[in-house]
Amino acid sequence: MKMKIAILPGDGIGTEIVAEAVKVLDALAPMYGLKFETETALVGGAAYEAHGHPLPESTLKLAQAADAILFGAVGDWKYDKLDRHLRPEQAILGLRKHLGLFANFRPAICYEQLVNASSLKPELVAGLDILIIRELTGDIYFGQPRGRRTATDGHFPGTEEAFDTMRYSRPEIERIAHVAFQAARKRKAAGSAGKVTSVDKANVLETFQLWKDVVTEVGLQYPDIALDHMYIDNAAMQLVKEPKKFDVVVTGNMFGDILSDEASMLTGSIGMLPSASLNAKNQGLYEPSHGSAPDIAGKGIANPLATILSAAMMLRFSLNQAAAADHIESAVKSVLAAGFRTSDIYSAGTTRVSTREMGDAVVTAIGKTAIKTTIKG
Ligand code: IPM
Ligand code: MG
Repeated sequence: MKMKIAILPGDGIGTEIVAEAVKVLDALAPMYGLKFETETALVGGAAYEAHGHPLPESTLKLAQAADAILFGAVGDWKYDKLDRHLRPEQAILGLRKHLGLFANFRPAICYEQLVNASSLKPELVAGLDILIIRELTGDIYFGQPRGRRTATDGHFPGTEEAFDTMRYSRPEIERIAHVAFQAARKRKAAGSAGKVTSVDKANVLETFQLWKDVVTEVGLQYPDIALDHMYIDNAAMQLVKEPKKFDVVVTGNMFGDILSDEASMLTGSIGMLPSASLNAKNQGLYEPSHGSAPDIAGKGIANPLATILSAAMMLRFSLNQAAAADHIESAVKSVLAAGFRTSDIYSAGTTRVSTREMGDAVVTAIGKTAIKTTIKG
């Protein structure tokens, strides 16, 4: 089967880390009889430089026509002064909106070998495996109206004010709630608690009272899954107090943005965390949870594992190749067990490697685990 993958490396370390993930996919393809048809395009600041827009029509078309998109990262401080609609971040927001990528999966897994890299006590994070599901195409990110005007009321009438609209419709909440309950069910079958925590601010916001009501209703269809509700402020606190209490967390776009950054730090290394953003057709965009890190771009020291693990999520979610996805994930674990570390996860007694050496190590590990995994798949 031929699979069309749009490769969008973007800015900063994007090019280096995506190259390693592509290398891993290429190594895996012959073992599973997969044929990847890949095409690369510019996105973010790189696209702005070349075409005057962070998401040129040609890049958007390529993404729309693909089965899956492998995305690096976008952004650089040097674009901070551009109009908002031309900033690199608009590329990722535009892709989410145009492709309807409403379901964002952000797992936070603390790898056994990296327990000491977390800023939290090892016993709080050892064995941590939670999944944040963030709604990605609604909320205050996309709500209309938004803009600036002269205030006619409020605390300072007659002065300049800005406003954004927080907004969710019932079907938008229903579909993300189903995604969360189904994910919790799948995880339960694999040994997790079978619990969804819905994070809201229903005590203050009408939008999130509707959110809570709808998630509760949808939850009735999943009697095998426990549901609890938590206010965002409390959730932010509980996440550092007792992170292992969580299983699946479902929340809106804005709260999910914040909570997923917080959760990533529990694992000690944002350089390890993949993510997937899916639409109703299971077409998906796969990207590391971290950003473009312009400060270390071009130095060959970035950690490619989050992108390599994003490629694994791509195989699992959009390309229906669970065995190949498992294969990548076990290769990454064995590389960590063998002591290979990029600078961000380096500690005394381990072997410091470059971006490329880390990619090579994963490719080698894939070769070594081939027979076992092929039989399992
Ligand atoms: C993320 C990022 C984006 C967001 C930015 C780059 C627009 O922070 O993917 O979490 O806010 O969604
Ligand atoms: Mg973010």
